[in-house]
Amino acid sequence: MTFHYSVFVYLFILFTKCVFANVCKFDVKLTQTLHNEGFHRNITYGVVFNEEDESEDWINRDCIIALDQKLPPGVYVNPDELGELRRTNKLNALPKNRVNVELPTEQSDDSSVYIIGMVSESKVYLWIPIHARYHKAVAGGGMAKNEIEPPKMYLRCPDRRLDMCGKTISPSVSFLCNGSSREQCSWKEIPFTMMTSTLVWEVPIGNLDHYYAVAFGTVLAILSGSMYLLKAIHAYKMRKLKRA
Ligand SMILES: *[C@@H]1O[C@H](CO)[C@@H](O)[C@H](O)[C@H]1NC(C)=O
Ligand SMILES: *[C@@H]1O[C@H](CO)[C@@H](O)[C@H](O)[C@H]1NC(C)=O
Repeated sequence: MTFHYSVFVYLFILFTKCVFANVCKFDVKLTQTLHNEGFHRNITYGVVFNEEDESEDWINRDCIIALDQKLPPGVYVNPDELGELRRTNKLNALPKNRVNVELPTEQSDDSSVYIIGMVSESKVYLWIPIHARYHKAVAGGGMAKNEIEPPKMYLRCPDRRLDMCGKTISPSVSFLCNGSSREQCSWKEIPFTMMTSTLVWEVPIGNLDHYYAVAFGTVLAILSGSMYLLKAIHAYKMRKLKRA
């Protein structure tokens, strides 16, 4: 009797696994855009869930999304600025690692920032202020290219519904629930389609040739100025001598 019972349980588990294994349809589209000009800019993210099939919106209703955006050495987020935006409830974002805002690109590494927001009507709109680091001047100057890759996308729902997705999504990872508390939450990375190409931000590099030209010009100006002064003093003394 017990033998038959366990076989039944086993078959039941196998059956549910087969039925639910591919039940989660993630049709997620992400648009990533770089705005403004100069050294201080703004990346915006538009996320749309299951646009084609609204009956699938159970998968994201009341869920929270987190983007993990990697930044190249030439680009950084300002932790103080993000702290202020969190306090004023404008944006929930926090750097994943320590950021030194003073360093030039050459002394910096890749960094990452989490941007967190609530899904509402199958959509999320997020943004993050970013800044470019200076490059050390080189002969000839030119432009440095900063490429900003698509972020990783994580989802967290108020219940265990994502557990049903089985192998269609990766196992959960644990990191901060949001920027406003130290508490850790369990997140699931979800697949998405990138609707825009990789962002490229070009930053001008200082020109060492200009530096030498400017330095040479300065020395010339000082020299000719001094010569003029010396000549004037000399002429003045000669006149005084003649009068004496
Ligand atoms: C960035 O863009 C968003 C959306 O357009 C806007 O709400 C936000 O104020 C902008 N932030 C900055 C620092 O320009
Ligand atoms: C941040 O997460 C904590 C823990 O889950 C929660 O209590 C708090 O309300 C959240 N704060 C915001 C601003 O989302």
